[in-house]
Amino acid sequence: MRIGVLTGGGDCPGLNAVIRAIVRKGVSNHGHEFVGYRDGWRGPLEGDSQSLGVPEVRGILPRGGTILGSSRTNPFAAEGGPARIAENMAVAGVDGLIAIGGEDTLGAASRLHEEHALPVIGVPKTIDNDLGATDYTFGFDTAINIAMEAIDRLHTTADSHHRVLIVEVMGRHAGWIAFHAGLAGGANVILIPERQFDVGKVCDLVGRRFASHYAPIIVVAEGAQPIGGIPGADGAQHDAFGHVRLGGVGHWLEGEIERITGKETRATVLGHVQRGGTPTAFDRVLATRFGLHAIDAAQAGRWGTMTALRRTEIELVQLAEATAELKTVPESLYSEAEVFFG
Ligand code: F6P
Repeated sequence: MRIGVLTGGGDCPGLNAVIRAIVRKGVSNHGHEFVGYRDGWRGPLEGDSQSLGVPEVRGILPRGGTILGSSRTNPFAAEGGPARIAENMAVAGVDGLIAIGGEDTLGAASRLHEEHALPVIGVPKTIDNDLGATDYTFGFDTAINIAMEAIDRLHTTADSHHRVLIVEVMGRHAGWIAFHAGLAGGANVILIPERQFDVGKVCDLVGRRFASHYAPIIVVAEGAQPIGGIPGADGAQHDAFGHVRLGGVGHWLEGEIERITGKETRATVLGHVQRGGTPTAFDRVLATRFGLHAIDAAQAGRWGTMTALRRTEIELVQLAEATAELKTVPESLYSEAEVFFG
């Protein structure tokens, strides 16, 4: 069997570990050959590929990013996209695809399978950890460790200068990174997209923290919104899947807190640092296990499925399930952290 592999959407630590596991097991156990499609769905859409075999995956386990490149290309936004992918696969003698991606890449994979009978298997990835079908996605653990370390470092400088320090982390629709990093880093306020926040209450917590002679650390997810929204935040850029380019709530909050409390406030936006560099052991292991199960699924002809972590087991679920439900931070979990606020 000849299998095409692609990585789509925002990159995340662990993608190379998946690719390595797919190729190593595919070659040694099943006698597969591989085609590495470049830059997500752009690769099969334009027939742009690179060779992918055991030599190409040597040494890539600890490397961040993806050796195949990534993009947010939407195959359904391109003229005749699905037919072009099918044709390019046929020309290259590719029997099936393994698509490693988040909600957009896997949403496209699901439609390509359902509507165009393309043989695709999905592997879920996102640092956001917001895919409902799997308990965890790889990349998340690395991201929260990076954010936690940043919070640890910000505590000491915040205390030295008696400043409010805000850390803006990724998380468009779900506040998993903010919640976990904030809890692990001892944040005094955590703001997530699931729950609109009241700036006045945030300022009360800031005052309470200063009253205990320590400086406050606020962790805010990029998708978090104050009640009533951020004035003048329209006109943002969108990607090929229609997502707004976020970022900015941290700096807006910096101005509001200074204005209301008179306390010096600084915002740090962690941005893509959270997605870069070497994966943690947890992410390497999860990514490797996903890769091993994905290639076995391809060998067994289980097209239209996706690997998922359920408790400690890797299971195959329908690809459509991958994007059916956005996994958000439940209110009950969020309120567990509130005892540490202020
Ligand atoms: O989906 C992963 C993610 O890192 C989000 O947390 C973030 O909103 C988005 O990607 C950023 O996308 P880009 O790298 O295209 O700016």
